[in-house]
Amino acid sequence: MLSTKDVSYWYDNQEGALYKDVNLDFESGKLYGIIGSSGSGKTTLLTMLAGLDRPSKGEILYNDTSLKQISLSKYRNQYVSIVFQSYNLLPYMSAVDNVVTAMKITHSESENMRDKAMRTLAKVGIDETLAVKNVLKLSGGQQQRVAIVRAMCCDAPIVVADEPTGNLDETNTQEIITLFQELAHEQDKCVILVTHEKEVSKRCDIQYELSKKKFTQV
Ligand SMILES: Nc1ncnc2c1ncn2[C@@H]1O[C@H](COP(=O)(O)OP(=O)(O)OP(=O)(O)O)[C@@H](O)[C@H]1O
Ligand SMILES: [Mg+2]
Repeated sequence: MLSTKDVSYWYDNQEGALYKDVNLDFESGKLYGIIGSSGSGKTTLLTMLAGLDRPSKGEILYNDTSLKQISLSKYRNQYVSIVFQSYNLLPYMSAVDNVVTAMKITHSESENMRDKAMRTLAKVGIDETLAVKNVLKLSGGQQQRVAIVRAMCCDAPIVVADEPTGNLDETNTQEIITLFQELAHEQDKCVILVTHEKEVSKRCDIQYELSKKKFTQV
């Protein structure tokens, strides 16, 4: 579904490239974990997979068509949901409005968007009282759930997440990973998450480790 074709990336000069000629494949229905040390370039890879940045060399392909050809903005709007650790949610809105707004932007098919948003929020423990509160009044773990519900309610086939459990306790971490597994296995999405926690990556179906500028499946 999604692949990198001979992707190289550098910020300043080619000699200091983070990696060169990377070829990775991502399929629907699977949860992928990308693990590697701090500064190795995990977030950079994710921004390319999310269509927020382009490779210095090589291409990202969505169903064999390069993102350039699809256009990055169309790709971002219709094909990817992004769950980042911060800057996740629209801060002046309630949880349910965050979900409904995303559904509208991505033209997700649903008869009653608000009902679907409320039902899905309830499923992850955000009850009616919490759902109508401004998101900034929710805890970090609750906000992260709202961001995942947004991905669940949108039709985008790809979900990318950067350190989605970064500041959560052990219980919340395990619950959030279970939600990502459901996104992949029950909604047949291609879910890619970046983490530096082995505990998280080992619950993924496929793990790619970034070490010494190379990705290897572990
Ligand atoms: N805008 C930028 N300009 C120049 N260098 C950058 C820029 N953004 C990141 N870098 C450098 O690129 C490298 C990779 O950064 P990246 O954020 O992808 O790493 P990461 O693996 O996600 O790390 P972490 O686990 O700490 O989040 C780092 O050495 C970083 O300093
Ligand atoms: Mg990072």
